[in-house]
Amino acid sequence: GYPFHSSHPIFSLSPVNLESLQKQFDELANFSDTPAPSVTRILFTENDVLARGTGSDPELGAVATGSHIDAIPYSGKYDGVVGVLGALEAINVLKRSGFQPKRSLEVILFTSEEPTRFGISCLGSRLLAGSEALVNGIKESVDDQNTSFFDAAKSAGYVVSEENLSTVILEKGSYFSFLELHIEQGPLLEEEGVSIGIVTAIAAPASIKVEFEGNGGHAGAVLMPERNDAGLAAAELALAVEKHVLETGSMDSVGTVGIIVLHPGAINSIPSKSHIEIDTRDIDEKRRDGIVEKIHQSSIDIAKRRGVKLSEFRIVNQDPPAKCDHLIINALEVAVRQLNLSHKMMISRAYHDSLFMARVSPMGMIFIPCYKGYSHKPEEYASIEDIANGVNVLALTLAQLSLE
Ligand code: GLV
Ligand code: MN
Ligand code: MN
Ligand code: MN
Repeated sequence: GYPFHSSHPIFSLSPVNLESLQKQFDELANFSDTPAPSVTRILFTENDVLARGTGSDPELGAVATGSHIDAIPYSGKYDGVVGVLGALEAINVLKRSGFQPKRSLEVILFTSEEPTRFGISCLGSRLLAGSEALVNGIKESVDDQNTSFFDAAKSAGYVVSEENLSTVILEKGSYFSFLELHIEQGPLLEEEGVSIGIVTAIAAPASIKVEFEGNGGHAGAVLMPERNDAGLAAAELALAVEKHVLETGSMDSVGTVGIIVLHPGAINSIPSKSHIEIDTRDIDEKRRDGIVEKIHQSSIDIAKRRGVKLSEFRIVNQDPPAKCDHLIINALEVAVRQLNLSHKMMISRAYHDSLFMARVSPMGMIFIPCYKGYSHKPEEYASIEDIANGVNVLALTLAQLSLE
């Protein structure tokens, strides 16, 4: 039968917190155009807008935190998600502790931190911090099914149009500070037995799309001297990327070719087209730019030597690194000390929405250990205890900043 016809409750509810709920009614009643006990709060009037904030002084810039929940193919459970669920829990911890923020606290769930579908990483935070140039980039973006960003957003229930896209761009100073909690995605914290990483800077990422075109042909009939194999051009470029990265002599330089697509993709057909996507990063922007330039030169040289056409060389993004804010780093150090947690200062080699939020707000990041540093694969894991440490550091830091 239906459980609501049964006289036995299906589970036992924990009691509503009467005192806290009453306090919230009383606080919200203060946002009124007329004196107490009356409440006048008309849609989109100043008090209506202020009441949507959470702090006691919502006219001050808010303190925001958040991350992403989208995941690349065959990824894990924790990348991004720790910073979203952790943010919500940090707010709950503060509520349960009876903390009253002065500046409002906001949680942001960013759209498309991962570039998988539309080829643009950190699409949401890039746009919030963004430029009209990016708005145009989004207008031209389609996924591999040729679906536009707008159609995809619409079919997911969002009202986004070419006209209103740029209205989300934040002015500098919109937020007093922005914080992101994230798994380290590297092995250092776990290896060294340290609970918390306080991030000092985020490395500069770049991504590039390259296409080569040749004549293709029959894998048996076309003799080797007659070929201009677009697939081999891509293979050679992939090795050139590795060479240019290693040539810097710095461990901070990295380069990856994660996508090579050959056309027509048949065992007995010489590739007539190849598409390759390159990711390269460095904490040193000049050195990273040097790698990008060498990759460009190699693409030209390889095409020439192999008699293929370099039909596309497109730098999709070439972002500067970001520095974390001193005030926030100080607040994080106070928090870890109060919580008696070990910590170390570190750079983030992965990029995050924080890289872009730093353009419009002072920014800080909290790292927690993850198993063997695994990320972007299913073995990604962070213990619930380590996550709880991160949540506590986040909560205490949000609290401090909200009172500044
Ligand atoms: C984020 O997913 C990154 O690639 O750094
Ligand atoms: Mn990721
Ligand atoms: Mn992430
Ligand atoms: Mn990411």
